[in-house]
Amino acid sequence: MAGEKEKVCVTGAGGFAASWVVKLLLSQDYLVHGTIRQPGDSKYDHLNKLEKASENLKLFKADLLDYESLRSAFLGCSGVFHVASPVPITTVTNPEAEVLEPAVKGTLNVLKACLEANVKRVCCCVFYSCCCEEPKLAQ
Ligand SMILES: NC(=O)c1ccc[n+]([C@@H]2O[C@H](COP(=O)([O-])OP(=O)(O)OC[C@H]3O[C@@H](n4cnc5c(N)ncnc54)[C@H](OP(=O)(O)O)[C@@H]3O)[C@@H](O)[C@H]2O)c1
Repeated sequence: MAGEKEKVCVTGAGGFAASWVVKLLLSQDYLVHGTIRQPGDSKYDHLNKLEKASENLKLFKADLLDYESLRSAFLGCSGVFHVASPVPITTVTNPEAEVLEPAVKGTLNVLKACLEANVKRVCCCVFYSCCCEEPKLAQ
């Protein structure tokens, strides 16, 4: 419909990289769906302070391993920026469960949910932490 704002979703909206994506999208007048895991946590306060957030940002509770939560967040969106990923800052005890599963299965969930929600474009911004920062995790 002419004049209607385009809706896009950013996964892991409260994270470092994703917050900048949210800020940019809001500044470009998009309606932004942001996924977060712990609604009400003060770690997301910065999102609500972004310009145009009060009218154009909607936060959804979603986990990468919870397919339905992702699908709900993506409904009505023409694009998804997939940025959410475990980014360990200390040594992890179970890399398979703590890093690889959310990163790999989570991304597959995102792609499948995008397909089902008729999302036209997906931008995957994840993986760097699995491939580069801790190369021994994959062993
Ligand atoms: N930072 C950089 O300069 C940079 C550069 C290149 C690439 N990247 C890549 O960008 C991605 C994010 O990095 P970052 O630095 O922004 O990390 P970050 O600040 O730790 O953010 C990670 C985000 O992922 C979310 N997340 C983690 N596990 C999740 C799960 N199971 N389900 C849903 N959300 C989950 C977290 O959500 P909650 O807070 O809601 O729990 C958090 O918002 C990584 O793949 C990283 O490799 C980052």
